[in-house]
Amino acid sequence: MNQAHQITINFADGVSRTFAADHNENVLDAAIKAEVPVLYQCRAGACASCTCKLEEGQASNIPGASSTLLASEFASGSRLLCVTQAESDATFSVAYGSEVGSSVAQELNAFVNSVERIAANVVKLTLELAEGSWAEFRPGQFFQITVPGLGVLRSYSPSSNAADLPKMEFLIRLLPNGAMSSFLETQIQVDQVLQLKGPYGAFFLREESKRAPHIFVAGGTGLAPMLSMIDTIRKSSARPPMLLNFGCAVPEVLFSLDDIQLRQQWLPKLEARICVDRGAQEGDGLHLGSPVAALKEDDVKDTNSVAYLCGPQPMIDAATTRLIELGMKPENIFAEQFVASN
Ligand code: FES
Repeated sequence: MNQAHQITINFADGVSRTFAADHNENVLDAAIKAEVPVLYQCRAGACASCTCKLEEGQASNIPGASSTLLASEFASGSRLLCVTQAESDATFSVAYGSEVGSSVAQELNAFVNSVERIAANVVKLTLELAEGSWAEFRPGQFFQITVPGLGVLRSYSPSSNAADLPKMEFLIRLLPNGAMSSFLETQIQVDQVLQLKGPYGAFFLREESKRAPHIFVAGGTGLAPMLSMIDTIRKSSARPPMLLNFGCAVPEVLFSLDDIQLRQQWLPKLEARICVDRGAQEGDGLHLGSPVAALKEDDVKDTNSVAYLCGPQPMIDAATTRLIELGMKPENIFAEQFVASN
């Protein structure tokens, strides 16, 4: 028999919504049908936008569905709503307020303003939204850009913020034979129109914590959402102490160092530790090792500190473990991993 269960979703702003989900239906579909404002994007277990915590009841992965959750995350109660089915009445919590998911992704057209190679493997792409296109987004959220000619989508977080609109800036890592990489290296033209869709994602600056000390840990182009967040804080009245640990493999592939320095001039409470896995020289000011290894014993002085992590999954796992060790509350750590596109 196809039994329906009562599902409750608790939002971080205290709002709760209850709806019915059939046993064999994924909870995300049921939530969308009931117009519950949850965040999602891929609907296939791949992007982690729909991450939530199971607070009460039984809910498991739909058999055969793929999920980016680690076994340890699943065991500690994390679920991806799009690949989860309820086995009883169940309550989930999400780490964002109910107003966040109500902003609908928009289809946008944007002109290419400039394409600049800023490191051997990184391009800065600057776009300007066409008239009639507009997107509200939170710093840290991402957009999908269609690769012209191929029709495939690639996801990137702007390094710019909403106050810069209609201008948008993206830092894009060039991958060998990557669809977007090949397009950027060989075909893109200034004034060409690109198609974007967004915003998406549950990784964004938390307004409610904006006065607490912030720690940003970024690997490679994971720097982009951090720049957007730091600039958003700069333009607000809050000026919390901030630490940015940013790392690349070797000094030659570091990028955006001038942008970071400029922000340090504007924000005296912003400390930056630039890290390289190898090749640091005496006196060059670089930290040898990963941006996680550059975290120090007394970096988490305030129990309300928040952290934002963006980069490859092993970096995120290591940073999460280290920050908890240093005294950060797990619920104050927000992360976005790089997911390779097919
Ligand atoms: S929407 Fe669930 S993982 Fe992407």
